[in-house]
Amino acid sequence: MNEHELEQMAKKLVEPGKGLLAADESNNSCKKRFDAVSVACTEQTRREYREILLTTPGSEKYLSGVILFDETFWQSTTEGQVFREYLKGKDVAPGIKVDKGLVDLPGFPNEKVTQGLDSLSEGVETYAPAGAKFAKWRAVITIGDGIPTDECIGANTYTLARYARICQDAGIVPIVEPEVLFDGHHTAEQAEQVMSHTFDILFQTMRAFRVHLPGAILKTSMALPGKDNGGVMDNDEVAERTVRALHEHVPPELGGVVFLSGGQTPRDAFVNLNRIAKLGGHPWGLTFSYSRALQDPVLKAWAHDRNQPAGAKELFLKQLELASAASKGELDESALDTDNFVSHAQDL
Ligand code: 13P
Repeated sequence: MNEHELEQMAKKLVEPGKGLLAADESNNSCKKRFDAVSVACTEQTRREYREILLTTPGSEKYLSGVILFDETFWQSTTEGQVFREYLKGKDVAPGIKVDKGLVDLPGFPNEKVTQGLDSLSEGVETYAPAGAKFAKWRAVITIGDGIPTDECIGANTYTLARYARICQDAGIVPIVEPEVLFDGHHTAEQAEQVMSHTFDILFQTMRAFRVHLPGAILKTSMALPGKDNGGVMDNDEVAERTVRALHEHVPPELGGVVFLSGGQTPRDAFVNLNRIAKLGGHPWGLTFSYSRALQDPVLKAWAHDRNQPAGAKELFLKQLELASAASKGELDESALDTDNFVSHAQDL
């Protein structure tokens, strides 16, 4: 493992003012999003849509990297340039989702583990020479009656740690993502507790499996009240709880911290990030790695008129500008309420 190169790449991914686009939805997730806007989900339409995101002029000002799904990793622009080469030309790092999705954890109702470890070494040996600079592995932690169990957290943190070390040996920066789901009736306090406990076990396990922490990145949820909690989200409370969980349970030497949007409205995803950044004092670079919060309005615009990709690209650039400002704590939140495309994106 070349520790120095991994550290440099991790730092670059969380460079101030830049963040990540997660464009790595599996074909199943993509189908759900395309169904919502009445577009058939085929290899061609997925390529056509993702080309909008990847070739938006000016996006390189705000993007340090893009997480790709295997299919897109090998696809090309309309002009025939392989996407990952195109990104490299704009100094945007191509990344790859390497996990193979979720399965039930036998014996533990409503809990999941992520599969894909068996074929991972082979996978990274293909992606690394083809230009992948970083990878993502998503595990899911559900809050509910008597869950998460320590067995579920243990099974997931074990695979995250093994995955991370395999990537580092291949020269790829691992993003470890233990997503605490937004779904549920829980409070923000419970979300904070579950995140904190998960981080404790995750980093203990990563150390045990000899992961070089400065060459790895955490992708995390925010400490949100559950989607079905019934209360109104307090953005300041979310920011305080998220920052406390991170500052007290994530090692300062880690390479960076990025957030998923997790099904929040784009508005909440931007405001929460802005408030988190404003609290300051973070020992790591800290930024966005959003899929839905960046893409929802863009997908809607593209589906509305596929012959006018320029309009969708303009929207995407605007979303990136907002996310970038939020990552620096410099977002003008008052402008969001009047921003049609942001506040209505949740209708998708
Ligand atoms: P969302 O921002 O839509 O949660 O997606 C981020 C992601 O990469 C989940 O794995």
